[in-house]
Amino acid sequence: MKIEAADRVRALPPYLFAAIDRMKSEARQRGMDVIDFGIGDPDVPTPEPIIEALCRAARRPENHRYPAYPGKLECRRACAEFYARRFGVSLDPASEVLTLIGSKEGIAHLPLAMMNPGDLALVPDPAYPVYATTVRFVGGEVLRYRLRSADEFLPDLDAIPEEAARRAKLLYINYPNNPTGGVASLEDLQRIEAFAERHDLIVVSDLAYSEMFFEDPPPPSFLQVPGARARCIEFYSLSKTYNMTGWRVGFAVGEPTLCAALGKIKTNMDSGVFGAVQDAAIAAITGDQGSVEVMRRTYRERRDVLAAALRQLGLAVRPPKATFYFFAALPAGVKSMDFAARLLQEAGIVCTPGVGFGEGGEGFVRFALSVPIERIREAADRLTRFTI
Ligand code: MLT
Repeated sequence: MKIEAADRVRALPPYLFAAIDRMKSEARQRGMDVIDFGIGDPDVPTPEPIIEALCRAARRPENHRYPAYPGKLECRRACAEFYARRFGVSLDPASEVLTLIGSKEGIAHLPLAMMNPGDLALVPDPAYPVYATTVRFVGGEVLRYRLRSADEFLPDLDAIPEEAARRAKLLYINYPNNPTGGVASLEDLQRIEAFAERHDLIVVSDLAYSEMFFEDPPPPSFLQVPGARARCIEFYSLSKTYNMTGWRVGFAVGEPTLCAALGKIKTNMDSGVFGAVQDAAIAAITGDQGSVEVMRRTYRERRDVLAAALRQLGLAVRPPKATFYFFAALPAGVKSMDFAARLLQEAGIVCTPGVGFGEGGEGFVRFALSVPIERIREAADRLTRFTI
């Protein structure tokens, strides 16, 4: 029988959030009122001016045809303007910016563009599962490196064996960090850049959460580090900044050869982002940024309510300075899967077991703040009747 999935599919565990979705719908079928702190998917609608820009752009016939593969130049220019305004980094929109069908798409295709079978990638542990999975898809090897929970979940670079660092091709980083909420300062990024330079590594920086911050200074881009742009491809997403997860639009920026290689893969795999979505992305990036400030206030308020509730439950929490993720440490010996399953069964509350992000996430659970404040209060109330 030839109807059998490829080995890489059979070896693949269910996608973390797909597995959680299944548990959620089972609980709902049992009649449970579920409060969902699982996936980080903003519950607030996309700001109205962006929706209006999309509606206008959808009526333009030129947007009904195949889009330009790397994205409209105006859209890439808007991204370059954002980098100049926010990070003081100047990018050539033609060679250093590529439009993506969401940053996940670009992250997932990058190994295809950069890795030969047997090449090694250094991937944080814990981390967004897509990094390691897609390296393995192309026959690449993965070495997970630990993030230190004692500080801002920064890389424990000294623990990476010298031989592995020398052999590796890619170093993945993600600050502000999913799932831990950790933030790297410019000095921290400088240390990472020095390590990457010493071992001639390509740095793959996931910057999806740069605008979701609650404290100054705002989180930096890896491209701000002197010398970094010669070895870095960075992924920026509109999903979290403008509540646009469903729209699928993001950017790859950085070293031109890396952008070109990814772009070449993409010309063979997809036909680019719908032109009207790109016009809406331009409106988002170049328009009034008031909604971004509202977004920060909303999550700050939610963060503080949830922090109080988790502390009352006896969890060690450090409210994140950025991102909408709480990475709460469980008491010693409590397994994150067991805790998450019990919390759902007994309190109807969904969180993500830390181990789903790698062994380094064991002993933690993640709560995403994509839940309205009244529901967080309801969760806080349920937690008073829950014992660990
Ligand atoms: C998460 O919950 O980790 C993210 O929202 C998932 C994603 O961005 O694909």
